[in-house]
Amino acid sequence: MTDRPYVIDEMISAKSIAARVEELAREIQAHFKGTDKLIVVGLLRGSFVFISDVVRELDLPVEVDFLEASSYGDGMESSREVRILKDLRGEISGRDVLVVEDIVDTGFTLSHVMNLLKSRGPARIETIALLDKPSRREVDIRATWTGFEIPDEFVVGYGIDYAQRNRNLPYIGKVRFT
Ligand code: IMP
Repeated sequence: MTDRPYVIDEMISAKSIAARVEELAREIQAHFKGTDKLIVVGLLRGSFVFISDVVRELDLPVEVDFLEASSYGDGMESSREVRILKDLRGEISGRDVLVVEDIVDTGFTLSHVMNLLKSRGPARIETIALLDKPSRREVDIRATWTGFEIPDEFVVGYGIDYAQRNRNLPYIGKVRFT
């Protein structure tokens, strides 16, 4: 919990997010057309709203699993050292995998998770990130599909938190300290 007062300025409306999720789901569906072995893996906790919207737009047989990696803790700085706090429940060897991330920032989290999951021998593995902050990147990685590129701002809402708060906002907003 933080005591520093702040306001949230809307950056991406709920309507724009919904329209973009629909577009992305169409591309994902075309990519994985005909599969009967897709597992959609959400990175906790920030992707929980995004993954629920994405899977409901997919007209494919899907399984859903979750993985939790440590990242920002309760602050605004990336820790760089990524640890797996909760692993997948299921096996992904020989399966098609779609990893769902909320934000690619420095890239450490996605890169670490991808190396781990690739080592388990999936048939295919792709990634989707709702947001991308390319100007912050320290590891050369890009998601296969990206919802929106955003500038170097700290954002919340639609599953994304600041010190565990604001995940329930239906839109993406930027934090402005007052
Ligand atoms: P990375 O390892 O630096 O790419 O960090 C990725 C993770 O940091 C994301 O999955 C988020 O959980 C968190 N993160 C990065 N930027 C923000 C932000 O603007 N607001 C809230 N969390 C963020």
